[in-house]
Formats: sequence, structure tokens, C-alpha cells
Amino acid sequence: MYILGLETSCDETSASIVENGTFVLSNIISSQIDKHAPYGGVIPELAAREHIKNIKWTTEAALSESGISADKIDAVAVTNTPGLVPALAVGVSFAKGMSLSLACPLLGINHFLGHIYGAFLENKITPKDTLCYPIVALVVSGGHTSIVEIGIDGVVKTLGSTLDDAAGEAFDKAAKLLGLPYPGGPIIDKLAKEGKDTGYNFPRPMLSKRYAENDKNRFNFSFSGLKTSLYYKIKKKSIPEGNELNNICTAYQQAIVDVLTEKTLDAAKKYAAKTVLLCGGVACNSFLRNEMKRKIGNNFNLLIAHPKYCTDNAAMIAGLAYHFLQANESTPSHVVDISARLRPITTAPFVPKK
Ligand code: KG4
Ligand code: ZN
Repeated sequence: MYILGLETSCDETSASIVENGTFVLSNIISSQIDKHAPYGGVIPELAAREHIKNIKWTTEAALSESGISADKIDAVAVTNTPGLVPALAVGVSFAKGMSLSLACPLLGINHFLGHIYGAFLENKITPKDTLCYPIVALVVSGGHTSIVEIGIDGVVKTLGSTLDDAAGEAFDKAAKLLGLPYPGGPIIDKLAKEGKDTGYNFPRPMLSKRYAENDKNRFNFSFSGLKTSLYYKIKKKSIPEGNELNNICTAYQQAIVDVLTEKTLDAAKKYAAKTVLLCGGVACNSFLRNEMKRKIGNNFNLLIAHPKYCTDNAAMIAGLAYHFLQANESTPSHVVDISARLRPITTAPFVPKK
């Protein structure tokens, strides 16, 4: 079964063809980073205008690269929430047109669940492998920082989320303070490799309470104070350069990664997870990937999305849609909560096009 996926929730226009939920035949991504970089963040109206320019050619390129003709497409899947509303509207409108013209079903897919599904793409493990449950997933991107538990029934339950900035924002805003380009994550990741964690003493927000059984913030995050701490550390001096810049990146990144990994591990233990899953744009971070591997050791299976499926892409949307289509369901359009499901419970037959 071939699904055309479309993703326009933020600043990437992406179109992809995925076969049977796993095999990515094409995954075209047109990034708008250059357009938003001067502002240090994404401007929704500008994003929507760029999506309008790029959605047609990315879809044509995805079809042509996949080698699948449009009449063989069994369904169209599109991110319908959460995201920047003007940006989402472009993808949803285009997807409606595609599904009408191809006379095939249209599925609205939750972007957050799509990120989780990114870890299953081109992977031997699928959401149907009952042995991997329960899963504790850390979803870390520019818009989200949450720990969720996924049960064998596919129900996704939020254990904790950020109370203010997402981890990706903590990277992006730090980069701005340090005079580094947007997005901040990749450049801080790179500079941090050359530095040493010496004497900066960044706080580990909300980590000291991790053992408090009933603390309501046990699995919550807060990164805004960390960013403020960076601001005060560099306020009195000029912006660091050379080795000092590398060192401050190392120390700042270490603080974020400590909080992310410790809280995820704490949740995995508490909920007796079989698998820990790591996904979202910040999951590209090389130090986070290594630290998660190191700390988890042999205690849990580890499922990390390939870097190309961590940042926004349409393959994760088309891949997840396959499971919902098989069950004749679309994902709930509201935010992820206990009512949202990663994998459908029922499996009603769906007859693909010949
Ligand atoms: O998933 P994504 O493409 O978009 C959202 O859904 O938000 O994530 C983008 C975020 C940005 O904040 C970017 O700085 C961060 O992911 N990011 C990284 C790295 N690569 C991307 N953060 C840390 N280290 C990286 N290597
Ligand atoms: Zn995303």
C-alpha cells in the first residue's frame, strides 16, 4: 500500500511516499531556514507563504523519486495538528485537493504522534511488535518536550511536558544570545564537541526533585531559567569566542542533556518500560543520543529515530497513516492525551488499489 504524506506544520515543506508504513520510497524536504534565520525564529505568515510556493514541486518530486505513478497512491495523509495554523492550512488544503483528484481517502495525522512514529521508519521493529511495550518516549523538538508512556493498546499517555520553553527552543534561544545562527541546535552540538565543561555551573532545572514520588513536576521540564542563567553569565562580558565559546556550549548542552536523560530514565523505571524511544528534532543531538545509549545500557531496548526522521518530515506522517488506514481510522485531531493512540486497536480490512 502506497501513501502520500504531506507535512507543513512549521518551516519545512515535505512530501513523501511510504510503502506499507515502513519503506520510505521518497522523502523530499524543502527547508525555509534561510527565510526565518534573520528573525531568530519561525514567522507563521512567512512560513505559510513559503509552503504555498513549495508544496506542489515537493509533491511532484516525491512522486517522481518514488517511481510510483499518482494513480497508484492508496491514500493521502497530512499533518493537521499541532503546528502553526496558517502553515498547517496550506498542507491540509493541498492534501484535500490531492485526495479528491486521486479519489482516495484523506487522513489527518497528529504531528506529535508522527514524530514518535519516526523511530519505527525503516526499522525491523514496528508498532505491531507487542514485545516492545510499554514504551516510554522522549519527544524533543522545537515545539515539544514531553515524556509519554505508550501501552500495548497504543494509548499514548503524557507523563510530563515542558512548562515553558521546549528543549529545541532552549538551544535556539541560547544560540541567539551567543551570536550564533538559527537554528541553534546543530551549531551548539558541533561547537560543544570541541569544548570542555569547565566552571559554568548551569542549573539542572527540576531535576533535584526527580525522586519525589508524588511531585507533580517529576516528569515535567522547565528550560526558561537555564536560558536566563546563560544570559547572566555572558551579560557582564562580551560574547565568548574560540575555546570559551566551545566551553560554554559544552556546559549548556550538558545541562539540557542531563535533565532530558535522567527524567526519561526515571520514567522508564517507574513505568517498567520495555523500550525507551527517542525522537524529534533535538534527538539529532549527538551528545543526547550517546548519553541516552550510555545511561540505558542493557536495562531497556532503545529505539532512536534515524537523524533524517528526527526533524520534520512527511515520511513519519505517511508511515503512521498506514496503521490508521488499515484500521479505517484517522488519528484524533486534538492534542496528545490519553485518548490519542499510536497504533489502532481494531484492524478492519482495507483493500489497496491494484
Ligand atoms: O522536529 P523539528 O524539526 O521541528 C519541530 O517540530 O519543532 O525540530 C527542530 C528543533 C530546533 O529547535 C533545532 O534547533 C533542534 O530541533 N535541533 C537540534 C539539533 N538538530 C536540530 N537540537 C540539538 N542538537 C541538534 N543536533
Ligand atoms: Zn516537529
